[in-house]
Amino acid sequence: MGLLSGKHILVTGASSGMGRVFCRMVAAEGGRVSLLARNKERLKETLSSMKGEGHQYYICDLTSDDQIMAVVGKLDALDGVVFCAGVNDYVPVKFIKQVKIDNIFKTNYYSQIILTKMLLKKKLINDKASLVYISSLSSQLGVPGTLLYASSKAALNSAVRVIAAEVAGKGIRANAICPGIVKTSMLSRTNIDEEIFAKQAEDYPLGLGTPEDVGNAVLYHLSDMSKWLTGNCMVIDGGYSLK
Ligand SMILES: NC(=O)c1ccc[n+]([C@@H]2O[C@H](COP(=O)([O-])OP(=O)(O)OC[C@H]3O[C@@H](n4cnc5c(N)ncnc54)[C@H](OP(=O)(O)O)[C@@H]3O)[C@@H](O)[C@H]2O)c1
Repeated sequence: MGLLSGKHILVTGASSGMGRVFCRMVAAEGGRVSLLARNKERLKETLSSMKGEGHQYYICDLTSDDQIMAVVGKLDALDGVVFCAGVNDYVPVKFIKQVKIDNIFKTNYYSQIILTKMLLKKKLINDKASLVYISSLSSQLGVPGTLLYASSKAALNSAVRVIAAEVAGKGIRANAICPGIVKTSMLSRTNIDEEIFAKQAEDYPLGLGTPEDVGNAVLYHLSDMSKWLTGNCMVIDGGYSLK
């Protein structure tokens, strides 16, 4: 028996990085996983690397309400959701354009709210289920160039507390996890200079994180071990915040 045996978990952002690792870890703990992302080939790669049976992938662009609605219509009841899909963009304030605000907020904030709303309205969230939102340490910092990303995640943190209050009557829990820097493809796409990257790593007393480090926190949040935890924002950052 695994930690998540008998539980059905939806993981968004399942086609790469942390979401892919979360899918593997949930499956290894006996959970049945519904995987969601846009890229079919990479979703299939994730699926083929997972233990267990009954997993299913869904192709969906979360910036489209219609596509979210279509996937929600195919899902059966869930015991947990990991809202992991997200995008990043480093833009100094004076170069911000409306289209960039829309892009970041559509994926990192609006889509999480719309998906939560549709799952609740369709009664697809079982009593005592766990909703886990992958936010970011950036939401609590003031790093130059991160305004759009940081504020989209800060808005998410705020939303999670309200959702937690609204669903608690059914024993449903909603929490955010705020990781510091984790080595994934999201970072390679941001073209951070290797030297700057190495310097950032020096600020982490325990070094930079791995997807598995965050995955262990996700397993805890999804399991009944965290049944008295809600409305929380867990910072997991290798000691970065000690300063
Ligand atoms: N890496 C870090 O240092 C770090 C730190 C703190 C928080 N985070 C957060 O952790 C989460 C995962 O990040 P990661 O580093 O694993 O990034 P990643 O490897 O780039 O993965 C992002 C995932 O989101 C999916 N996605 C993006 N836009 C989407 C859309 N419109 N519709 C559906 N799926 C979409 C991507 O799949 P498709 O392209 O196939 O759609 C992909 O599976 C994000 O929310 C990120 O903000 C990351």
